[in-house]
Amino acid sequence: MSAAFGTETVLDVRHWTDDYFSFTTTRDDGFRFENGQFVMIGLEVEGKPLLRAYSIASANWEEQLEFFSIKVANGPLTSRLQHIRAGDSLLIGRKPTGTLLISDLHPGRNLYLLGTGTGFAPWLSVIKDPETYERFEKVVLCHGVREAKDLAYRDYIVNELPRHELLGDILRDRLLYYPAVTREPFTFQGHDHRGRMTDLMASGQMMEHLGIEPLDAEHDRAMVCGSPAMLADFRALLDGRGFTAAPRIGTPGSYVFERAFVEK
Ligand code: A2P
Repeated sequence: MSAAFGTETVLDVRHWTDDYFSFTTTRDDGFRFENGQFVMIGLEVEGKPLLRAYSIASANWEEQLEFFSIKVANGPLTSRLQHIRAGDSLLIGRKPTGTLLISDLHPGRNLYLLGTGTGFAPWLSVIKDPETYERFEKVVLCHGVREAKDLAYRDYIVNELPRHELLGDILRDRLLYYPAVTREPFTFQGHDHRGRMTDLMASGQMMEHLGIEPLDAEHDRAMVCGSPAMLADFRALLDGRGFTAAPRIGTPGSYVFERAFVEK
């Protein structure tokens, strides 16, 4: 009998702040997924599996699995998970799923990856997929956070990815990083990036700073991942501009969305 989940080993843990951490695990040879999908992961607690949905933050061609997590002091899972160390065991579901698939977007010009907090995790997978750059001319990678220190992976995106031996040439001029910080002054590459991403996008400030075309539903596509309130606001913005959500997995639209799984 095969259980609904398998056991992997934690390889590395990285604490970004008091609120965010990332970790990598071994990956079973038979574990296949699409970039952008999520999977149930967790720990055995008092003899019982305790699992929550996590976006996979590694690409499907990578050997290890990676996850990006919040730390909730009294969260049933993350209060424990934040203490994991290399060598510990982790439960990982066998059935990844989810709506954040580039194959569910009509081909287009600029692809906006819109994530707040840990809603950034699926983009780490999507930006490492060579197909993303076959389907879209530019990929605008947006991370909205409270304070600049919450911009996990910033150095990786700005300094490491453009030099990546396989992906560097493909994405160097086409992956545009757009961090946004709400609770303190923040400038990035000489531009004021303080504010909610919804406002920065709606005002056109985002496109202006990046030197790209104004938002246009005919040509542009979006993937959205965040809190229920963030999704509602972005959906209203996109719908108001003539974008149409993909109605279900396998039926494309001009944007897709998924709730970031924060209540952990
Ligand atoms: P704000 O500081 O104005 O609440 P959190 O840390 O709560 O997960 O939030 C992550 C980021 O998402 C914060 O910058 C937060 O801004 C922003 N945010 C929260 N709600 C929304 C929303 N409805 N639309 C856009 N951004 C949001």
